[in-house]
Amino acid sequence: MEVISSIEEIQQITLQFEREGKKIGFVPTMGFLHEGHLSLVELIRERSDILIVSIFVNPTQFGAGEDLGKYPRDMERDLSLCRKHKVDYVFSPSTEEIYPKFASTYVSEEMVSDGLCGHARPTHFKGVTTICAKLFNLCRPTFVALGQKDAQQLVVLKRMIRDLHFPIEVIVGPTVREADGLAKSSRNSYIKAEHRKDALLLYQALEAGRALVNENGIRDVDPVKSELISILQTGHSLKVNYADIVDRETMKPESEIEMGRSILIIAAWVDKIRLIDNMLLG
Ligand code: PAF
Repeated sequence: MEVISSIEEIQQITLQFEREGKKIGFVPTMGFLHEGHLSLVELIRERSDILIVSIFVNPTQFGAGEDLGKYPRDMERDLSLCRKHKVDYVFSPSTEEIYPKFASTYVSEEMVSDGLCGHARPTHFKGVTTICAKLFNLCRPTFVALGQKDAQQLVVLKRMIRDLHFPIEVIVGPTVREADGLAKSSRNSYIKAEHRKDALLLYQALEAGRALVNENGIRDVDPVKSELISILQTGHSLKVNYADIVDRETMKPESEIEMGRSILIIAAWVDKIRLIDNMLLG
């Protein structure tokens, strides 16, 4: 496995693979890798000749007062996990390399980025689309693996790939959960033991919402939404950001649940940690 930090070097490597007709599989990450990331590596291994993982904590997707400075990092551990999973290249540039002085070009998606996390974190998705456009240009993937856990990010990036004509196929990995149901996230490492019970309420609320839809046949969004919120509100250290039922392609609120299209989606702060989770219906 090679670790590359220079833009020039990654460009030379990926251009050469492209000339040779090799298929590049790519997993963009901010490091502090967990089973969710590694499942994405495994998901595209079969179809890819070359596997690239990027590790870059992207400052432009963090708002003022968010956790950029505290974002968990452990490069040695990340590299050893990548080696274990037979990744060919880790691309891990410095911030200065990716955002040269006076950089003034950004990429923004302006429809599905709008509500939900985009409302709570108004500059977040612009940072995500900008960094992913850069990484796609540099890593030249045939396939990019993205997780369903970040449902809105997934749709935003699919839109960007379509709208900007990146010749990339998106492969979606299911949410990987801890044994108790908590969706895997690098931020889980911040959760204090005494707040774990509250963090689990996200999954419990989603399961209860799904049961109302699947087992009780409810299609009206209001009782399902109320159920999500009333479960979340039992958490003493939990503050709901949103709990909604949206269309999985547009991320806009639904008036009626449509199996195969609707998605239950939640964001909440547990203590000071912002957690997100979602569940597809049907
Ligand atoms: O999901 C993430 O870890 C990040 O948002 C991504 C896609 C790597 C961009 O920085």
